[in-house]
Amino acid sequence: MFLSSSLSSLCSSSMDQPPDRSKRPWTFSTFVYSSSILFLLLSILILSFTTTDLYKSQTLRFTFTTNRIYTYLQSLFSNSNSKSETPNTSHCVLWMAPFLSSGGYSSEAWSYILSLHHNLKPSKFRITIEHHGDLQSIEFWNGLATETKELAIEMHRTECRPNETIVVCHSEPGAWYPPLFETLPCPPYGYYGDFMAVIGRTMFETDRVNHEHVERCNKMDRVWVPTEFHVASFVKSGVDSSKVVKIVQPVDVEVFDPLKYEPLDLVEIGDLVLGGSGVRGLGLGFVFLSVFKWEKRKGWDVLLKAYLREFSGEDNVALFLLTNAYHSDGNFGNKIVDFVKEMNFKEGADGYPFVYVIDKHIAQVDLPLLYKAADAFVLPTRGEGWGRPIVEAMAMSLPVIATNWSGPTEYLTEENGYPLVVEEMSEVKEGPFEGHQWAEPSVDKLRVLMRRVVSEPDDAKVKGRRGREDMVKQFAPEVVAKVVADQIERIFEEKIRR
Ligand SMILES: *[C@@H]1O[C@H](CO)[C@@H](O)[C@H](O)[C@H]1NC(C)=O
Ligand SMILES: *[C@@H]1O[C@H](CO)[C@@H](O)[C@H](O)[C@H]1NC(C)=O
Ligand SMILES: *[C@@H]1O[C@H](CO)[C@@H](O)[C@H](O)[C@H]1NC(C)=O
Repeated sequence: MFLSSSLSSLCSSSMDQPPDRSKRPWTFSTFVYSSSILFLLLSILILSFTTTDLYKSQTLRFTFTTNRIYTYLQSLFSNSNSKSETPNTSHCVLWMAPFLSSGGYSSEAWSYILSLHHNLKPSKFRITIEHHGDLQSIEFWNGLATETKELAIEMHRTECRPNETIVVCHSEPGAWYPPLFETLPCPPYGYYGDFMAVIGRTMFETDRVNHEHVERCNKMDRVWVPTEFHVASFVKSGVDSSKVVKIVQPVDVEVFDPLKYEPLDLVEIGDLVLGGSGVRGLGLGFVFLSVFKWEKRKGWDVLLKAYLREFSGEDNVALFLLTNAYHSDGNFGNKIVDFVKEMNFKEGADGYPFVYVIDKHIAQVDLPLLYKAADAFVLPTRGEGWGRPIVEAMAMSLPVIATNWSGPTEYLTEENGYPLVVEEMSEVKEGPFEGHQWAEPSVDKLRVLMRRVVSEPDDAKVKGRRGREDMVKQFAPEVVAKVVADQIERIFEEKIRR
């Protein structure tokens, strides 16, 4: 079988020495960008080149980490159906993104790829994908739907000629050529004219883009950003305004459809951190859900302050925090207890309201069930590129409370949710955004909104339904796929005319 032979040839050739970088054939005008599924398994990446009489082909080679996954993929692959609708165009888009990592860019990239795949006419262009921009996570890959995995493998194997290919570098600009950390560069061989055009897809969570990133953006033919907020902040920071194009992000309203799921048992997967000292036994009552990486930007401190000041054990409410580590250890329960002590939140006679932490990995396919188990979604973030969990919650018809700044301003309104007022802008004190500004959402206004969602449930349901309607209308995959395909077609036409 082709797969096993290619696997074994790759296995044996991965013993080869990596090529001497100084001898990289930058100027090939013709070669086939060829792909293999093996990128899924691997930790070490070696670029190497082979030459035939007809063309020079570049193959990405890797070293195996586990045989078990290899066997799994092999069986998956032999079952996959071959596509009946073969595209009849040589035009191609190479989409490079952190496909095999969890995180914002990854889920965004998947949503584009899936939207384009399901909605693109085969005569427009073909798509091939490559992992780039972040570390690979086997756990994340395993959590993807089987259909998605099969499609990924199929797309990864699509071969494209660079001179007929537009590259999309979908990641933070630090990963673009030459990358500031170890990753496959994008575009793969720099900006030397092999590819028809290169598009940078990126976003930012503060009020500006740093100088280094501005320069990287300006090397691109286009810079795609998700919101008006970014168009303004990128241009203000010095990115060439003729290159900046707003391309919103799709949300899979078919997958995130509240009618299709039973709720997940949250108590089963969550760890109780606060509350439960009073005797109740009445079930959870009203459930707030928040989903975020544990970092200051996400405003977990604002959320806990508002929640613990507004509610007590007497209120029939629970707050579930689905979180994971971001440059920190994972002991979130302790962090919350420490924060409560530090802030001097006294436990009243009625006890604390319930706070649960979910720090297990929730597979992509289980996310809708998680939202389904909540009554409202809340994220008092200090800044978002887009705010993926927010739109997913909206697609699931949940009433959402989120900060009225940055990404969410593109879709969150008084009609479809609860935009949270920003009290002031504050300076980012640490990390790579140091010195930038972001939003400080109002704790008092958050208390008011959380209370309102609980006490006016009918109103909240109306907004939740409107939220889903707006997601379907504005960000359904077929809607956004058309926008993306039109932009790409336009660039092909421009380049051909020249
Ligand atoms: C790209 O290169 C190949 C091989 O040299 C050639 O056959 C093809 O016509 C080229 N395509 C374009 C659009 O120039
Ligand atoms: C590709 O197929 C479509 C119909 O699916 C047709 O309209 C188009 O002309 C074809 N293009 C080429 C280059 O053959
Ligand atoms: C949200 O912010 C926009 C400006 O970005 C403003 O026009 C709107 O009134 C704000 N809404 C609320 C509820 O604060």
